[in-house]
Amino acid sequence: MKQAPSAIPFNDLSRQARLFQSEFVASIAKTVQSGRYIQGSEHNQFEKEFSEYCGTQFAIGVANGSDALEIALRAAGVERGQSVLTVANAGGYATAAILAIGARPLYADVDIDTHLIDLEAFANLISSAPVAAVVITHLFGRMADVARVTDTCARKGIPVIEDCAQAHGAQLGGRMAGSIGAAGCFSFYPTKNLGALGDGGAITTNDPGIADKARSLRQYGWNGKYKVALSGGRNSRLDEIQAAVLRIKLPKLRDWNERRRAIANRYCSGLRHDKIRCLGPSGPGDVVHLFVARCSDRDGLRDHLRVAEIGSDVHYPIPDHLQPAWSHINPNTRLPVTERLASEIVSLPCYPELSDDEVDRIIDRINGW
Ligand SMILES: Cc1ncc(COP(=O)(O)O)c(C=O)c1O
Repeated sequence: MKQAPSAIPFNDLSRQARLFQSEFVASIAKTVQSGRYIQGSEHNQFEKEFSEYCGTQFAIGVANGSDALEIALRAAGVERGQSVLTVANAGGYATAAILAIGARPLYADVDIDTHLIDLEAFANLISSAPVAAVVITHLFGRMADVARVTDTCARKGIPVIEDCAQAHGAQLGGRMAGSIGAAGCFSFYPTKNLGALGDGGAITTNDPGIADKARSLRQYGWNGKYKVALSGGRNSRLDEIQAAVLRIKLPKLRDWNERRRAIANRYCSGLRHDKIRCLGPSGPGDVVHLFVARCSDRDGLRDHLRVAEIGSDVHYPIPDHLQPAWSHINPNTRLPVTERLASEIVSLPCYPELSDDEVDRIIDRINGW
């Protein structure tokens, strides 16, 4: 009897964990035996290795990507009551960080083809409203044009913070994500291109002042033990065990990103359906954190995939300015492209351990819909 094909989950972290389990366990055991669980040698080495990887002078480990954004904004000088320009299609993380400071988000619409900040909308906003900082998001592993944004902002003395939570290792014009703006903010949430076995995050920067402030803010605002020099500090540390795991994974990131690009390009060349549009083939600098397509009948497609036991998801269904808890903040904001994309986008499985056979099965299923 012919066996039914097995389900294809949207993500399956256990595949990677199985491949490297013995390395993880040995390194965790070594850390357990060391007796040092916070800011020990694994943490310090990881900060060094990650800054080298990103091509920045400093990397500062923090507890997660959301804290990285909040701490970077504070370290760049953003204060209560000021406005921060960002996009509304990136899951709400930047908005949450901006609001946590007591600042206010201001949204630029995005480009219909790249889903990244629309440079014309950005230019209009920045010339018409007082802005204390810009958070630019490299969504789905594709880099936004930070250099153009920083050019404009530099003339006005406005810091640009790169949200790199979906862009570990991404490049544009030979420059790495997290190395162009005043600071880069990374998440090591397990599903990220570089993911820990729990939460983790980092801030990259070439600015010694921002690095010092971020180091202080991640640890109660201290500038020496028990001496609080900066207000707005908290406990946000990357722990030793997560740093040890990230050190094992970092050297493999280049190959994993390559595999993600190959999967995305296989989808793009294989998918043929008049209701579906791909985002376009991945360039050498994209790291395809998510493979996202547009579909005029998204719910129909997702139902079809569900019957075939193929996972899918939506990143993200509700733009920030329409979120129930936040819609009162900018009640008159209209972002036609952001709103349209939110109703059409669908994410398909894309992770390094996905096989070509599985990608082909997904393509066949979709093309036969
Ligand atoms: C674009 C973006 N920014 C920020 C974050 C926040 O990271 P974390 O979940 O580690 O707080 C995430 C991830 O979840 C993200 O995708």
